[in-house]
Amino acid sequence: MTATYSVEFKSVSKFFGDVKAVNRVDLQVHKGEFFSLLGPSGCGKTTSLRMIGGLEHPTEGDVFINNICVNNVPPYERDSSIVFQNLALFPHMTVAQNIAFGLKLKKMPRDQIKAKVSEMLGLVQLSGMEKRRPDQLSGGQQQRVAVARSLVLQPEVLLLDEPLAALDRKLRKEMQIELRRIQRDVGITFIYVTHDQKEALSMSDRIAVMKDGIIVQLGPPEQIYEQPRTRFVADFMGASNVFDASINQQNDEHFTMKTQQGLDVLAKIGKTLESDPIGFSVRPEAVRMVVGNEKPSLENAYQGKVASLVYLGDVTEVEIELQGGDCFVAFVNTTSQSTKVEEGQAVWVAWSAQDSNLLLA
Ligand SMILES: Nc1ncnc2c1ncn2[C@@H]1O[C@H](COP(=O)(O)OP(=O)(O)OP(=O)(O)O)[C@@H](O)[C@H]1O
Ligand SMILES: [Mg+2]
Repeated sequence: MTATYSVEFKSVSKFFGDVKAVNRVDLQVHKGEFFSLLGPSGCGKTTSLRMIGGLEHPTEGDVFINNICVNNVPPYERDSSIVFQNLALFPHMTVAQNIAFGLKLKKMPRDQIKAKVSEMLGLVQLSGMEKRRPDQLSGGQQQRVAVARSLVLQPEVLLLDEPLAALDRKLRKEMQIELRRIQRDVGITFIYVTHDQKEALSMSDRIAVMKDGIIVQLGPPEQIYEQPRTRFVADFMGASNVFDASINQQNDEHFTMKTQQGLDVLAKIGKTLESDPIGFSVRPEAVRMVVGNEKPSLENAYQGKVASLVYLGDVTEVEIELQGGDCFVAFVNTTSQSTKVEEGQAVWVAWSAQDSNLLLA
């Protein structure tokens, strides 16, 4: 028996003339998963989402919802619902009427609609606001109505295209937590499009990072953040210490990589790699800055001097230039007195071989 996926792409492409918006993508989204499509502008996120919703027809390949090929199923007959960035709430209708709209179209009996609407209002925490019109609500409240209006139809999959992009930072954060809670409560599959890596990291069960119409890496947030496979993903996820380097030595457990400035760095590998690494990255949280003459006992330890200090509140971002010229960024706990340093001061930079993440492209 084959597994049932909420959504599946089998070699799906969408071309607009010469533009390969989505290029032979294979994808399986599990039932009840919070799945994010993450990537820079123009990488094909919206196009992918629209092909699931039926608003765009694939040039090649097959789209499945619940293991059924929906290529020839019109949007309104698909078991999916879309929440857009610009909401499109009905301005002249109340909150309750907005939420009830889809159920009325389905000709659900009035008392059932009433019960459903009241259940939804509770879920999105808008009970008591059912008589207001959209212009009497805050941005975040409007967004909740939009989500409720889609969820009330109990789709197999809810498609969300940057739904929080228009909100200010604080409200966006609140709504991220809120959307995640709602998704857990209802257990419906969410496919969430965003170009904000922090948003994707904090909300998703799994993330697909896209570039130029292709999924370049897919995995849980920790993996995407801690083990980017390519320079692109490392850069996009905001990694600071990313270096081109070539293999100097290699055995079953370790690689020694040489940077262009001649620094030899040790990396430990837990598994065989599908291709030779072309560089490495180290997260600033994994880099230790050590004051004093004694060489730290980690596998990678190099001398340098403090090039700059940026106070960020809980941590201070310290940039350290090594003798050969490579620069590393370390996050140093601001409260730790033992690591108070000044610009120009000699320090050690150290990290464990396990924290050298190898990049394959
Ligand atoms: N209807 C269209 N006609 C022609 N080209 C299109 C059309 N829709 C999208 N494209 C192109 O396809 C590519 C992918 O677009 P898409 O909207 O999927 O990107 P996106 O990842 O959602 O970007 P953003 O973050 O800016 O919303 C882009 O190069 C875009 O210009
Ligand atoms: Mg888009």
